[in-house]
Amino acid sequence: MARPQKHVFVCVQSRPPGHPKGSCGAGRNSGALLQSFIGELDRRSLWGRIAITSAGCLGPCDLGPNVLVYPDGILYSGVTAEDIPALIDEHLLGDKPVERLLAPAEAW
Ligand code: FES
Repeated sequence: MARPQKHVFVCVQSRPPGHPKGSCGAGRNSGALLQSFIGELDRRSLWGRIAITSAGCLGPCDLGPNVLVYPDGILYSGVTAEDIPALIDEHLLGDKPVERLLAPAEAW
C-alpha cells in the first residue's frame, strides 16, 4: 500500500440520546457523512493518494460532525455531505484548508 498524502478521520462516535456530550454519530449522522466521503473518493479514484478512516471521539462533540486531516493536523467541525467536494478540491488536493469549516481555536 502506498503511503497516502492525506489521511482523513471522520468521527463516528455515538452516544445514547440525551447524553450531555452529544456525539457526531447519533443525531448528526456522521456515518452517512463517512459513506459519502468514501463514495466521492472512489468516484475520483483517489485511493492511494487519500486515506479515510472512521474514528472515535475527536474532542469537540458539540460541534460535530468533526473531521480531522493529517499530516496537517486540521480539524473541521459541522461538516456536511455538501462540504465534501470543497474539502477534497481545496484541501486534500489543493493543500489549502477550507477556512469556513475550521473548528474554532478554542476547540482545537
Ligand atoms: S463524538 Fe465526535 S468529536 Fe466527540
